Amino acid sequence: MSKVIVFGSLNMDLSIESDHMPNLGETIIGRGFITNPGGKGANQAVAAAKMGAAVCMLGAVGADAFGDQMIAGLAEHGVTCEYITRSESCPTGVAIITRVCGDNFITIDAGANASTRIDAVRRALDEVAEPGDVFLAQLECDYETTWAALAEACKRGLYVAINPAPAHEIPEAVLPCLDLVVVNEGECEMMTGIYPADATSARAAADKLKESGVGCVAITLGARGSMVFCSNETIESVPPKTRAIDTTCAGDTYIGAMVAGYARGLSLADSVALATKASAMATTKVGAQQSIPTLAEVE
Ligand code: RIB
Ligand code: NA
Repeated sequence: MSKVIVFGSLNMDLSIESDHMPNLGETIIGRGFITNPGGKGANQAVAAAKMGAAVCMLGAVGADAFGDQMIAGLAEHGVTCEYITRSESCPTGVAIITRVCGDNFITIDAGANASTRIDAVRRALDEVAEPGDVFLAQLECDYETTWAALAEACKRGLYVAINPAPAHEIPEAVLPCLDLVVVNEGECEMMTGIYPADATSARAAADKLKESGVGCVAITLGARGSMVFCSNETIESVPPKTRAIDTTCAGDTYIGAMVAGYARGLSLADSVALATKASAMATTKVGAQQSIPTLAEVE
């Protein structure tokens, strides 16, 4: 079985429920405050581990209590944490989340995530990476480090996957390194200029990315499911109907499960089905990593 190596962010999520967002200068009464491990990188690592993959996390936290809790949370799910660096000068990343009607507003302070450097990534890859392993990244760490890490993973023959979230442009030279790109509607529009409003526009957007050198493109469409375009195979997947309580981490669960399926040797169709079901289940529980179902629960 191949491994999943995740290079990405670790954030402590401070999340509160509210009926609406306060206006500028206004204080409102909310409820249901929770503190729980999050960060797109760490969430995707936990999702892949819960879906049965062997996972190694690369990234950075501060030398503080949140950093300890982030690492303990990952280790609890069997994720290898020895290549997570601890910054002496930056605090652990934090996300302030307001949950409104099942959806969310998120503001991040990257903290130590912005201190990630390519030397640490190279050292870790020297020790753990084998050709065929998955390398998965998002866009919450230092950008230059992320681009260099993707190129490095490509050079070493890894299967390179990215979730370009939060939405930000990717340098053109990096695109041919990417075997799999997973985008939501907004990220799709940012990368291609095409909003995936329907099957035709989604295909046009995927074709545009493929012409730039990307291997497979998965476009997630919230409650409408996802469309995956790989070589000549197109897979449309519609999730089971669920009552969404908190969509935080649904996208992370989708891509984590997708790459876990790949690493475990599942077919593309089975990986997409696993990702679709697991991410729908993650919306039925509050929080980030704590809302990701186990493989047994999905099955
Ligand atoms: O994708 C959800 C995640 O985005 C949260 O856990 C938060 O930390 C932000 O990174
Ligand atoms: Na959730």
